[in-house]
Amino acid sequence: MNELASPLAVSFPSVAFIGAGRLGRTLARGLAAKGVAVRAVGSRSASAAHTLATELGGCTALPIQEAAAAAELVFLTVPDDAIAPSAAALRWLPGQRVVHCSGATEVAALAAAQEQGALVGGFHPLQIFSDPERALALLPGSTVAIEAEGVLADELHALAALLGMQPLALRPGTRAAYHGAASFAASFLLSMLDEAAQVWAAIGLPRDQALRSLLPLARGTLDAAEAKGLAQALAGPISRGDVGVVARHLQAFDALGESHGQFYRELSRRQLTLAAESGRLDAAVLARVAALLESA
Ligand SMILES: NC(=O)c1ccc[n+]([C@@H]2O[C@H](COP(=O)([O-])OP(=O)(O)OC[C@H]3O[C@@H](n4cnc5c(N)ncnc54)[C@H](OP(=O)(O)O)[C@@H]3O)[C@@H](O)[C@H]2O)c1
Repeated sequence: MNELASPLAVSFPSVAFIGAGRLGRTLARGLAAKGVAVRAVGSRSASAAHTLATELGGCTALPIQEAAAAAELVFLTVPDDAIAPSAAALRWLPGQRVVHCSGATEVAALAAAQEQGALVGGFHPLQIFSDPERALALLPGSTVAIEAEGVLADELHALAALLGMQPLALRPGTRAAYHGAASFAASFLLSMLDEAAQVWAAIGLPRDQALRSLLPLARGTLDAAEAKGLAQALAGPISRGDVGVVARHLQAFDALGESHGQFYRELSRRQLTLAAESGRLDAAVLARVAALLESA
């Protein structure tokens, strides 16, 4: 391996990326900006690898096998279904580190690299990478789930700290539940906003105005959760035990169609548990709301 390019990078391994997509581009740029020696990029299309390598400087676009051999630590930032086949198709050096960035795929997908003597692990940034520019700005303060042992764990924790990310240790066998649950704070939030926009559209409110009106409300709710925690941030009729308002909501949603009523009821049941946790409502009020939610 070559000497590292920057004095800032002295304690970090040299790095290569296989997969120059949304996550690979963001992480490579974030690490290079912090002085880590990102030596090589390989990707399915040579042009994607070339574009990223040119952006980084000091980095070379190489055929995938050559890129994989060019660094001490290799990030496999390919789609989840390509992780195991890529790990199996490539030759790895004993002691080399091979990491994937998936939330839901187990580290065992890298077994072929481990069998060749590589140290394997997971480094899953818990953030949305739809646009690399925005994602880069979001890395500091975001969590990164790390699954690794020994020297690789030390290196991944050091890289997380360098990026200003909060490490979260994951145990083998837990990734699908970990990742699926995180969807509630990500893509399912969009489904919630979509449900609100659909109902508003059904009563004649323009869809483009819906997002403008609902996003500040959503941000206010998230700010309250950050300041007070989930149960204490709760507001709205269930938090007050306002049975009459909940009944009117149910009537309106049922009138729009069965799926709207069912969705509202299921979320309200979950919210009632949170309201009980807040300690603001007595048992009789909680029971009245619960009975209403079970009524047809
Ligand atoms: N996007 C997110 O929000 C996000 C968040 C957290 C974790 N992740 C994880 O990050 C990983 C990559 O996701 P992504 O969203 O960055 O995917 P992506 O944008 O689709 O990028 C994948 C990249 O890998 C290349 N590629 C595909 N198959 C390949 C193969 N067999 N060998 C080499 N390169 C191959 C692609 O091809 P080309 O060279 O043709 O472009 C592309 O550049 C996944 O494990 C995902 O779960 C993603």
